[in-house]
Amino acid sequence: MTMAEYIELKPRQTSDFELLSVGALAPLSGFQGSESWHSTVENMRLPDGDIWPIPITLASDVKASEGDRVELRNESGVLLGHITVEEIFDRDVQKEAELVYRTTDEAHPGVAALIGEGSRCIAGPIETVELPEHAEIFQPYLYTPEQSKAAFAERGWQTVVGFQTRNPVHRAHEYLQKCAMELVDGLFLHPLIGETKSDDIPAVTRMHCYEVLLKGYYPNDRVLLGINPAAMRYAGPREAVFHAIVRRNYGCTHFIVGRDHAGVGDYYGTYDAHRIFDDIDAGELGITPMFFDHAFWCNSCDGMASTKTCPHPADDHVFLSGTKVREMLDRGEAPPIHFTRSEVAEILLEAAGTKVTA
Ligand code: ADX
Repeated sequence: MTMAEYIELKPRQTSDFELLSVGALAPLSGFQGSESWHSTVENMRLPDGDIWPIPITLASDVKASEGDRVELRNESGVLLGHITVEEIFDRDVQKEAELVYRTTDEAHPGVAALIGEGSRCIAGPIETVELPEHAEIFQPYLYTPEQSKAAFAERGWQTVVGFQTRNPVHRAHEYLQKCAMELVDGLFLHPLIGETKSDDIPAVTRMHCYEVLLKGYYPNDRVLLGINPAAMRYAGPREAVFHAIVRRNYGCTHFIVGRDHAGVGDYYGTYDAHRIFDDIDAGELGITPMFFDHAFWCNSCDGMASTKTCPHPADDHVFLSGTKVREMLDRGEAPPIHFTRSEVAEILLEAAGTKVTA
């Protein structure tokens, strides 16, 4: 245990702090205590019954006592806020891994992060002094839930579909979004910019991709680009529910859940993140999930399609895994235009430190 005057928030904790501060994690307004942790992990609900899939806890070994009001600072020492300590407790990280992540394998990046944080948690409500700072490129896209709701209202959107992503928007993503846009008034493109695993494409690069794609291929008045400060947990099904709740709080009425949403490696089945919603009432959740099957370009259909709409064999389909795309970019090869728009491919190639050769 270290004696300190303040708690230094790690980047993932800073993301949670920001989400809590702006109301993106409503009904939570602070870091969860033991009763709430148990209820979340075991029942996927808060003690009062609200659906809640992933614990928001503040792991820290800083010495403190119940009733203390402790400063929260980021890694550069900036005072972001305070926590009033209601409880200090030890969580069972193995149990959290097993029930929330469905695996205790430390090769899973979310489980590794959880275990790395440790078990001792400090719980209590927070007060905010200052929101964490974000790089210049994110500034135009910083909406609090209150601001995004106002922006939707200003545009006259009654129905808005939220889209979560930790990737550049590839053609399959675009297909899902545009299918959904046929049915609702607006799209809230809401990429996650908090910590992701090291081989994911950095958020700054992705922002350039989103900008160029929206400029060239989307109707300006039907899309709003905003950033989600959350960190990725890669918790698959549980995180799909979490992502939906966050977008509900930002004012979305619908939320896209595609193949292996928030998944990593082979830890989850392709549609486990659909199945988890089977037992959840959309009315209670406050947002309607829109489920999409695996989408791809089909050479025989000569267009985008999905396993629901295309009768042709897999050989006809252009689908590349994240690993495959990274390998291509590292070799200086542009992913095919049937996978990624050429404007996006160019940005990715440039970021990978190479020039377009084709
Ligand atoms: S995630 O971790 O944020 O889910 P990603 O950015 O790849 O990863 O996915 C964003 C959304 O698009 C998720 O809902 C995901 O399920 C969906 N998705 C990604 N690729 C496809 C695809 N080829 N077909 C259908 N859905 C997809």
